Amino acid sequence: MLTFSRRWFVASTAVAGIMLSNLSTSIGLAKLPVPKLKGGMPLMQALAARRSTRAYSDQNIEDDMLSSLLWAAFGINRPESGGHTAPSWHGSMETDIYVADAKGVAKYSPAEQSLKSVIEKDSRAKVSPEPFVGTAPTILVYVADLARMAKAPEADQIQAAHVDSAVVAENVYLFCASEGLGTCLIGGVDKKGVATLLHLPESQIVTFAQPVGFPKAG
Ligand SMILES: Cc1cc2nc3c(=O)[nH]c(=O)nc-3n(C[C@H](O)[C@H](O)[C@H](O)COP(=O)(O)O)c2cc1C
Repeated sequence: MLTFSRRWFVASTAVAGIMLSNLSTSIGLAKLPVPKLKGGMPLMQALAARRSTRAYSDQNIEDDMLSSLLWAAFGINRPESGGHTAPSWHGSMETDIYVADAKGVAKYSPAEQSLKSVIEKDSRAKVSPEPFVGTAPTILVYVADLARMAKAPEADQIQAAHVDSAVVAENVYLFCASEGLGTCLIGGVDKKGVATLLHLPESQIVTFAQPVGFPKAG
């Protein structure tokens, strides 16, 4: 993950085509590198390669790749409307992605293409009782803010929130297939424990987690 220190950036966003010069980040907020929006595997090959992987090497995911991964997951692909790479129930856009790695946990901002640190401690082992999950260098944790789903009948909100997270997860599966990364969607998450860890308000629920890392050889 990025180092969360005060830094100056000269960055451009490929999507918006806007030049941001001398952008100062506050402590705890790290602007991600511009995501790479070209290249990758042809779609049909990525679909052919998609699979769940449960053993990861020690190799970390570099910031460039992390930025592209998060953009593929739920980045903004239509800046004019704020539309995302994944659909959501009535455009609720209620999925927040938290990124857990050896340095801590940070929250992804699609609008800023940035990460905001929320915990500065390795918390990966707390995400799931399934031991392999905590061995991944990076774990994406999906949180749905039901307060953003006011248009959905209350009885449908939780199901719709899980569907929306799962659609994001498929984007991640395809990105991983394309980049030679391994991943696995995890329903077996310690949802209560993670909600407490992240100090989530009552309206926000943990839906899934998704470890990401390079597959272990052999
Ligand atoms: C909603 C959902 C929840 C899942 N939860 C887990 C899980 O908790 N642990 C796990 O190892 N795999 C989990 N998986 C992955 C499935 O086990 C996996 O997709 C399935 O075995 C088929 O393998 P494949 O993805 O390689 O095609 C989950 C998949 C889905 C769609």
